[in-house]
Amino acid sequence: MAAARPPHDIADLGLAEAGQARIEWADGQMPVLRSIRERFERERPLAGTRVACCLHVTAETANLVRTLIAGGAEAALCAANPLTTQDEVAAALVDRHGAEVRAIREEDVDTYSAHVEALVAGEPSVTIDDGADLLTAIHAGRPELLERMLGGTEETNSGLLRVRALEAEGRLGCPVIDVNGAFTERAFNDRWGTGQSTIDGILRATNLLLAGRTVVVLGYGWTGRGIAVRARGAGASVIVCEVDPLRALEARMEGFEVMPALAAAERGDVFITVTGSRDVLRREHFERMKDGAVLANAGHFDVEISLPDLERVATGGRREVLPLVDEYDLGGRRLNLLAKGRVVNLAAAEGHPAAVMDMSFANQALAVEYLVTHGGSLGPGVHPVPEAIDREVARLKLGALGVEIDTLTPDQERYLHSWRRTS
Ligand code: ADE
Repeated sequence: MAAARPPHDIADLGLAEAGQARIEWADGQMPVLRSIRERFERERPLAGTRVACCLHVTAETANLVRTLIAGGAEAALCAANPLTTQDEVAAALVDRHGAEVRAIREEDVDTYSAHVEALVAGEPSVTIDDGADLLTAIHAGRPELLERMLGGTEETNSGLLRVRALEAEGRLGCPVIDVNGAFTERAFNDRWGTGQSTIDGILRATNLLLAGRTVVVLGYGWTGRGIAVRARGAGASVIVCEVDPLRALEARMEGFEVMPALAAAERGDVFITVTGSRDVLRREHFERMKDGAVLANAGHFDVEISLPDLERVATGGRREVLPLVDEYDLGGRRLNLLAKGRVVNLAAAEGHPAAVMDMSFANQALAVEYLVTHGGSLGPGVHPVPEAIDREVARLKLGALGVEIDTLTPDQERYLHSWRRTS
């Protein structure tokens, strides 16, 4: 039987059946989250908690929301990006799972902000963010809520930068769990999730052949590493651009060419920004690029490729050549921008595969449980995901994959914990 419908602002409730099928498909790839959901159903550790989520509205997120509700929480969801909402999933969450959802694919900036504000008005006790829009909205508009909040969690590096900036100004008003920092989130999500789905998004949008092309990856964090390896696997020559000498050295040792972006600008066929910073590709780069170059951003915010600069240099104007490809005419040379510079793996494909979101969202669900049990004692600041949670997620995932591992013998335990080499 359908649950009573909570408040919502979504595209079309009639899409619920299609959305439910999609949610169930993703659930099949999310055994860790499912096992947590089953425990939450029995134990109800989140009873009475109001959890507001500002996340990409996807089938994977829906399974997180189901898990929170199974734990006894009241859950509300708005989009972390207007281009990534799966309208059918939003409908199923409202119609079949009793979640308050405010998200419409391609909603304009005002609607997006109104949806975030509506979640703030619900006075959540816990927030879950992907980019920190919800938590920063609370800090900016309703700071008095912070004292009563158990805390928040943050999924992305970009969001963490904003949270840490609040902390540096002495203004962070509640504990925030750095879910991005968990090994089972960062290393897996970014490297395999964004790595694969970024290539997927570029191919879906363009149907380019990567073999024989030169792909320039700007930024060599976990995500850049994943993209570079996958682009090489598809037959491309890969150039890496970095500002950090350690990462640049690692990229070189991994066998990639490393050079400044200005030099790479002349060589690349496909450029992928994934730095977390802004204006990584700007006028001086556009002016050097080859005719037909493709520009994609895999970072969270659409500031890595300077759109104002691109508009400025495009003296011949802009036209949409494919649904997610805008061609800018630089007086004879053409540059192709994908998904308006928004995060390409979600805007042109479906984001991280469910099998990696399984681990991220398992961390999220367990981090919310941790906030509920420890929130009062944590104090404002950025807190890591406890190592026990990270290890538990890895243990559950290995179990789901049917992988067994060794345990130390008592002698080995003693050896590893002693400074005497004879013991
Ligand atoms: N971020 C990246 N991929 C995602 C997905 N599939 N669902 C929710 N958030 C995501």
